[in-house]
Amino acid sequence: PEPPPHAAVPQAGDPDLVLLRRIGVVDPTSLDDYRANGGYAALREAMRLGPSGVIREVADSGLVGRGGAAFPTGRKWDATAKRPETPRYVICNADESEPGTFKDRVLMEGDPFAVVEALTIAGYANNAAVGYIYIRGEYPRALWLLENAVELARERNLLGTDILGSGFDFDIEIRRGAGAYICGEETAIFNSIEGLRGEPRSKPPFPVERGVFGKPTAINNVETLVNVLPIVLHGGPAYASVGTGRSTGPKLFCVSGAVERPGVYEVPFGADLRALMEMCGGAGTGPDGAQRLPRAVLLGGAAGGFVRGDELDIPLTLEGARDAGATLGSGVILVLDDDVDLTAILVRIAAFFRDESCGQCVPCRVGTVRQEEALVRLSRETGARDTDLALLREVGDAMRDASICGLGQTAWNAVESAIDRLGAFGPQEESTR
Ligand code: NAI
Ligand code: SF4
Repeated sequence: PEPPPHAAVPQAGDPDLVLLRRIGVVDPTSLDDYRANGGYAALREAMRLGPSGVIREVADSGLVGRGGAAFPTGRKWDATAKRPETPRYVICNADESEPGTFKDRVLMEGDPFAVVEALTIAGYANNAAVGYIYIRGEYPRALWLLENAVELARERNLLGTDILGSGFDFDIEIRRGAGAYICGEETAIFNSIEGLRGEPRSKPPFPVERGVFGKPTAINNVETLVNVLPIVLHGGPAYASVGTGRSTGPKLFCVSGAVERPGVYEVPFGADLRALMEMCGGAGTGPDGAQRLPRAVLLGGAAGGFVRGDELDIPLTLEGARDAGATLGSGVILVLDDDVDLTAILVRIAAFFRDESCGQCVPCRVGTVRQEEALVRLSRETGARDTDLALLREVGDAMRDASICGLGQTAWNAVESAIDRLGAFGPQEESTR
């Protein structure tokens, strides 16, 4: 049997948590238990506020998307709700596939009714008829728990017609991916739900205008949606009082690699990387018994960037990560110590992107192959080093500038930052920079 979800949450049981509050505390199969722990109070409050009241609170909260791109959720909902076309749709993007990302899995496995309640509130605010949960195929336990949660919610009139006597009709359907990373890209999800090949569409038009079945669609990541529950319950301004600047509220981080206690951690936006490293026990101790400094930390996943082990004072905010030349992405904190072979990791990342490219556009289809080839030559020292470094940069820039979707646009990010910030493959001549 798989370990329970709270095994991945070292803070489980801490009553001060917001998003992880119920993980390991409630029985994820029991609607009664969920309700006894505050469940469905937010939906009742949402119905008291009315759709525009909910959107106002979400806008006031400053909540930005937690899937990786950090777009303001209030703006997204406002744009969707204002479209004249019907029906409108809401979608929960649960196709969590970024390497090193496992926070949505913990939420879905540990608190599945929260996901269903939050998507119902999204449906109510956007006046949608149907909500989809698009879940990655490799999450069978989360799928089962969500199916169970949807079924029980239907039985209790928390889904279906005239929900809680409000006159609001809404139901949730679950769709399962089949192992393709690209099917987490929002427009590829639309294609997949419509029964087409899971390839991204060009944006604009954005989903708020033309989403699934060509209709206005608000699509949000699992963690983003779960944030809506405390926002509705306690108000947008209270939520916005935590954090800094554009980075408000609590944030989940997926800590893995060379740390004592890997897992999903919840911290208020604004804590720095050093504080998070301390929470997870740091990178362990060396032979002399002294705390080891990590060699590097990959922030934001394969599409993110590396920071050095001596740069741990970076604030874990959107602004802090950007100023450090990285991104928070979906909350990946992958810690590397001196024992790892950095070049092997870069080749692995490049192979991943080459594997997962859908092949629809040339810069990404060809660029990811060329990138991997150059990295293999560099790691085996079988080519002309400076020529390959220059080639990587040229190919990387072409992918970033000319690819249709985020996969190709970010496929060179981690490699670029490893070369520039960590000095992978040695010092560079000016001409290759
Ligand atoms: P994006 O920047 O194109 O869009 C972000 C969101 O804002 C989308 O929902 C988009 O529809 C919306 N949006 C953007 N401009 C808009 C406008 N003017 N009007 C209305 N809506 C607008 O980014 P994308 O491609 O959706 O996501 C890229 C991110 O995904 C990367 O940062 C990466 O970190 C992350 N990612 C996360 C994964 C995961 O497993 N969580 C997997 C792969 C990538
Ligand atoms: Fe497909 Fe890559 Fe083009 Fe995205 S960038 S559409 S994954 S080929």
